[in-house]
Amino acid sequence: MQNRIIEIKYKQYPSPDALPAEERQLLEKAIQATSTAYSPYSHFCVGAAVLLANGTTVTGSNQENVAYPSGLCAERTAMFSASAQYPKVPMRKIAIVGKNADGELCAATPCGACRQVMSEYQDVAGENIEIILYSEGGTVLLFDGIDSLLPLRFSF
Ligand code: THU
Repeated sequence: MQNRIIEIKYKQYPSPDALPAEERQLLEKAIQATSTAYSPYSHFCVGAAVLLANGTTVTGSNQENVAYPSGLCAERTAMFSASAQYPKVPMRKIAIVGKNADGELCAATPCGACRQVMSEYQDVAGENIEIILYSEGGTVLLFDGIDSLLPLRFSF
């Protein structure tokens, strides 16, 4: 038996303004998408913006339902919409941000199901999908692919 350690790597920027232009603009679109959330049960809004290889951005937000499991996270809303509207166009980047009941921006780190869906679309893309997460204190975390968010991921 051997003890093993898995390292995850990411970059932390002190604020959205410190991001490179493309990432900053994508995060801005994710922030705008929080206003389209339908979240009467949690009162927590999440926005996601996916940048495609053809330069198109597709946004999504969380959509809740009185039958709770019927709702969907912002990330999957955005990714499924992107894949449905632009089949076979690779996804390159995704930005994600939360907004609490007081209207303040906050972190919304993707749930396990959304990470698995990102993993699949990364495989389809044949290139890493960059993940941009608004984080605590207004900092921004940048992951260069899904492996750091879903180590030992399941894939064919
Ligand atoms: N939610 C997202 O849309 N994305 C995340 O990364 C975390 C959680 C949504 C699901 C639900 O509508 C609300 O946030 C509260 O959990």
